[in-house]
Amino acid sequence: MTRLASEKTAAADAATRTTAGICIDSLGHAFPTKDGGAMLALDNVSFEVPNGQFLAVVGASGCGKTTILNMAAGLIRPVSGSVKVGGEEVVKPLRDTGYMFARDGLLPWRSALKNVEVGLEHRGVPKEQRRTRALHMLDVVGLSGFGDSYPAQLSQGMRQRVAIARTLAINPGTLLMDEPFAALDAQTKIALQGEFLKIWEKDRKTVMFVTHDLAEAVSMADRVLVLTSRPGRIHADITIDLPRPRDPGEIRFDKHYLHLLDGVWQSLKEAEARAG
Ligand SMILES: Nc1ncnc2c1ncn2[C@@H]1O[C@H](COP(=O)(O)OP(=O)(O)OP(=O)(O)O)[C@@H](O)[C@H]1O
Ligand SMILES: [Mg+2]
Repeated sequence: MTRLASEKTAAADAATRTTAGICIDSLGHAFPTKDGGAMLALDNVSFEVPNGQFLAVVGASGCGKTTILNMAAGLIRPVSGSVKVGGEEVVKPLRDTGYMFARDGLLPWRSALKNVEVGLEHRGVPKEQRRTRALHMLDVVGLSGFGDSYPAQLSQGMRQRVAIARTLAINPGTLLMDEPFAALDAQTKIALQGEFLKIWEKDRKTVMFVTHDLAEAVSMADRVLVLTSRPGRIHADITIDLPRPRDPGEIRFDKHYLHLLDGVWQSLKEAEARAG
């Protein structure tokens, strides 16, 4: 009896592990158009991101990538279908989810340290704890000593680092990232990709990472989802079986990486031709 019960618990645990993370089920969405009609943005999109997986999503501009992230973030509700994060249906922003955009979105009137503290403040973390955590996160992203600087005094790369620190400060179980490194020059981008992967590889949060940069997708993710546009549908689901830990700066010369990159590139071309 006891054994059966524990077997059941183990089975339930395993089920939670695979079904938690992000679960997108039959998502459909239309936006109203100026002429009073409706534009079908997403059509029957279903996929799961198991706990601890790093998923990259690519697709032509306007195919619905940000819309999917906004739904997972609880900022908009889908017309049909559902989104679950950590087994919970998302009907409003969840405390355990971090969302990071291409633009750093830092508050210009607050110092770097105070920007990192924002999410902790919202969660009611006491002042001293907030400060200690924010200082630690600035250190993790290589910005110790810059806590008193204001966003305008920092480079774009440094501001993105502050934004990463702010997103990670709340220790979210799920990370939604919308082209977080798009505004950076090539060199800073590769450096930050590497730094972010090092942080991620330590505790492997569930990540949904949208990017237009196919090299970024393949060098960072466990899996790449390719979407078609108008309406957004899943065209391909490609496993990236490259070893970890990975260095996005080094992996670019790896033969298997180049093969996978070519596969994603061909798939995106097909998806665009199909949307035609
Ligand atoms: N609030 C809105 N009102 C009307 N249409 C919208 C709205 N938000 C998005 N859309 C439309 O829905 C489609 C998907 O938009 P979305 O921003 O999700 O695309 P995307 O894949 O993120 O594009 P990009 O790569 O350019 O960021 C687009 O055709 C867009 O014009
Ligand atoms: Mg977008």
